[in-house]
Amino acid sequence: MDEARAFITQCYQELNKSESDIMFRLQQIEEELSEAGTYTHSNEELVHGAKMAWRNSNRCIGRLFWNSLSVFDEREASTEEEVFQALSRHLDYASNGGRIRPTITVFRPSHPNKPDIRLWNHQLIRYAGYVENGQYRGDPHSIEFTQKCRELGWQGGGTDFDVLPLVVQIGDQPPEMREVEPHLALQVPLRHPEFDWFGDLGLKWYGVPIISDMELKIGGISYKAAPFNGWYMETEIGARNLADENRYNLIPKVASCMGLDTTRAATLWKDKALIELNIAVLHSFKEDGVSIVDHHTAAQQFRLFEENEKSADREVTGDWTWLIPPVSPAATHIFHKEFNNTWNSTNYFYQPKPY
Ligand code: ARG
Repeated sequence: MDEARAFITQCYQELNKSESDIMFRLQQIEEELSEAGTYTHSNEELVHGAKMAWRNSNRCIGRLFWNSLSVFDEREASTEEEVFQALSRHLDYASNGGRIRPTITVFRPSHPNKPDIRLWNHQLIRYAGYVENGQYRGDPHSIEFTQKCRELGWQGGGTDFDVLPLVVQIGDQPPEMREVEPHLALQVPLRHPEFDWFGDLGLKWYGVPIISDMELKIGGISYKAAPFNGWYMETEIGARNLADENRYNLIPKVASCMGLDTTRAATLWKDKALIELNIAVLHSFKEDGVSIVDHHTAAQQFRLFEENEKSADREVTGDWTWLIPPVSPAATHIFHKEFNNTWNSTNYFYQPKPY
């Protein structure tokens, strides 16, 4: 009730509702809570709550656009089949032929007498990862989940970029698995504006990052299945997914193709290769008409967000260690300030893996 009260009060004030609307709604919720042990958000509360949760996401640099989130209310979905169909609609709507729309699909929340719906995937689109006697293939981040999919009967193509299947579980029932239809998995082959050899590396990345393993909490209600997406910032792909040593680890390969002197750290060959990888990501997404933002523009947008929040008399909370981009952090204003890393309770949270 405390959490409901805090949420409803803030939500209704932001939506310019009256004091008596708030009193009436809280009365209603109190009754529902004592009878059912939970309460049900109106569609309006769900939509605004999901937006507030984004606005409160301390680690996100893209929060300027919180109020333009598209919210699909799929609380009626009760079978695996209905969940798969809703996920397909999300993929189609969010991808939008490349003009990516920030979107969340919200499935039914935890309920005293209904089984939880859980998505096993970390992201709806993600590449499989394999390791066999010390030999790695694909995305090492996905190794454990890929193994689970294989136990469920999935056979990957064994390439570095196999799109993993969707896995949905309801309560204690065995999880169900479904391949993503290829036309719903937008992907961008990577090439470089000046280095012709870059395209021959055969690299690509998917267009839409749709986080599907986090819990959305609104006013004390827990939505454990609520996949959401924005669009990529290029460093996520070029400076982390493709570059981290425990991910695709491509810096040495790119550096050697560039003909850099990799015998001494002081030639800054890693830094040079990293920049070209990021340029390739931006260039390829742009050319293919798939939304992406560079880290300088994203930081400018974040500054606007900070200004907007100040005007609305709200404090921006943030996690500096995540807000700074991994490339040239000190070239953004974010590096040079401090943030209060308190977590507002209407938010997106990590939760234990269902497998
Ligand atoms: N960093 C994650 C990845 O590289 C995606 C996290 C969400 N990113 C976003 N731009 N909405 O896949």
